Amino acid sequence: MSEEQQNGQQSEDLGQRTYEPPEEFAKNANCQDPEIWNKAAEDYEGFWEGWAKELHWFKEWDQVLDWDPPFAKWFVGGKLNASYNCLDYHIEQGKGDKQALIWVGDEPDHQQTYTYNELLTEVSKFANVLKDHGIGKGDTVSLYLPMIPELPIAMLACARLGAIHSVVFSAFTPDQLTERINDVESTVLVTADQSPRGGSITDLKENSDAALGDAQSIESVIVVRRTGEEVPMQDGRDEYWDELMQNASDQCEAEEMDAEDPFFVLYSSGSTGKPKGIQHNVGGYLVQLKATTMWTLDMKDDDIFWCTADIGWITGHSYLVYGPLLCGGTTLQYEGTPTYPDNTRWPSVIEEHKVTTLYTAPTAIRAFMKQGTGPLEGSDLSSLRLLGSVGEPINPAAWVWYYENFGGERCPVVDTWWQTETGGIMIAPLPGITTLKPGSATKPFPGIFPDLWDEETEEFIEGAGSGALTVNKPWPSMTRTLWQDPERYKEEYFSEISDEIYYVEDGAKRDEDGYYTITGRIDDVLNVAGHRLSTVEIENALVNHEAVAEAAVIGVEDEDKGQAPVAFVILQGDQEYGEDLEKDLIGEVADKAGKISRPDRVYAVEDLPKTNSGKIMRRLLQNIAQGEELGDTSTLADPSIAETIQEQTQQQMS
Ligand code: WT7
Repeated sequence: MSEEQQNGQQSEDLGQRTYEPPEEFAKNANCQDPEIWNKAAEDYEGFWEGWAKELHWFKEWDQVLDWDPPFAKWFVGGKLNASYNCLDYHIEQGKGDKQALIWVGDEPDHQQTYTYNELLTEVSKFANVLKDHGIGKGDTVSLYLPMIPELPIAMLACARLGAIHSVVFSAFTPDQLTERINDVESTVLVTADQSPRGGSITDLKENSDAALGDAQSIESVIVVRRTGEEVPMQDGRDEYWDELMQNASDQCEAEEMDAEDPFFVLYSSGSTGKPKGIQHNVGGYLVQLKATTMWTLDMKDDDIFWCTADIGWITGHSYLVYGPLLCGGTTLQYEGTPTYPDNTRWPSVIEEHKVTTLYTAPTAIRAFMKQGTGPLEGSDLSSLRLLGSVGEPINPAAWVWYYENFGGERCPVVDTWWQTETGGIMIAPLPGITTLKPGSATKPFPGIFPDLWDEETEEFIEGAGSGALTVNKPWPSMTRTLWQDPERYKEEYFSEISDEIYYVEDGAKRDEDGYYTITGRIDDVLNVAGHRLSTVEIENALVNHEAVAEAAVIGVEDEDKGQAPVAFVILQGDQEYGEDLEKDLIGEVADKAGKISRPDRVYAVEDLPKTNSGKIMRRLLQNIAQGEELGDTSTLADPSIAETIQEQTQQQMS
């Protein structure tokens, strides 16, 4: 590429482009009604009630919504069962032999598929195993498993009995597991001998044993043989999954659950130390998942749907397990990493299984982008028809790269904004009708009412502007409470403005067309000389530069400006760090995000400190940039990286 071309590419603001839905896609999209937002606004309860009617109910509800701020009840009096809706209901409609789950293991030749019939058999058997271990309606079960079929099977088995599952991400430490078991006081833990991922092994049983010393509620441990390695088994407490399943009956009736019975708990980190036990209840959660999987993710009967998230996170719960199965789709569960055995693995999985829908995170897209199109070139990606993004703001450059190189300019990109707390997708395009703008999550899903709050004037913003994101009406899949702590729920989410307004903790912009762009957590927002700046905008400017692969921006204390932006970047493979490049990068930010946004320093580091969900731990970078102690690094995916970053930064400081 010539210098001119490069400059040309850098100076175009990709966020200003628009993309119409591809004609082929639009013609077949599940939602094609441009009036749908108005219709849903005119009769919002009726809109959601319409979706509830798409599910199977043992008994219909008496009331759609009972809103006693900040506590909502949806489909009051209705009775249903999640596992019945995900399995039996489709089998009754003749889909028993359809593939429900495709499992792809860490090693390329290691695969397994389940039809709806087969999945129901496994789920019923394991539900009976749990029953034998004293589990019934309202009891809690902790699941600490790798990305293997036994995880969704165990979740659906809990759902069948009306037991509450608490999935603990398998990369969590024993201490994190202990804390999460103790909070729900579960009596049964389901785990595996080991978890192979990316060619390396985590000793899950060993971790479990270490966790259980301080988790006294657990009476039984059920161990899946994933690798078959011999692990210590405690007599009277530990049993193998396969041995228990051998004698289990494959008949198990689905419990009739109240729409407002608790469904599951999933822990999410907040700004304080203690993780929040986010509780979702059965009815509303399923209704919103059905709606968003059908319309945002445009699920079709012959789709092969690949959500790359781990089931240990809400994205995996909602769009790897429950959403696709509720719609009678085929969901793909992948155990491994994008780079094992090499960086062509994801493209090969797409080609081999003819994946139609890829739902992944910007961080993965940027990792591909950093390597160029090489890893994609050997695989046929033409089965793809829709691309999704979730979890963090996607910078326009990564959006366009994803659209062009994964999607071949054929597939709409749905950037979906939501949270563990919202349960399902909240702001995202309807891919058959929404004009896309790279970097923007576009419009609220019909029947969802976000807004922007001006923290200074304490008023809602009209029209275009930026402020704190809120949701002004309850929605079906909203968190009902924090586990056994309704006070903290109210305090965390409904105290900032009023008990009727959900305060998201994200900053956002809205343009003249009513499109939302999420700019990041409120706590990531900088205040530089009285100007509110989004770290994300500065990061986008940096990533836009050809030398930069990834960037993280934080605010350091500054005598003059209150805060000053400081950037940490990972350079593209062949780039040399030096004063000239640093100047260049600072200039790039001035160009793209305004002079006031110019970072004081740009440090080049080997890696960024990320949590297991791929979020950059900004607090740590702040400590490093301010020459302070590292502090707690235990929530990092790789805690050892903290010291490396600190050393590299210190060298460049002088
Ligand atoms: C936070 C929620 C959504 C499930 C996975 C993460 C950020 C999420 C987007 C998006 C910009 C996003 C927000 C949100 N976020 N999706 N499309 N664009 N930001 O769930 O761990 O509960 O995190 O992730 O900051 O508040 P989570």
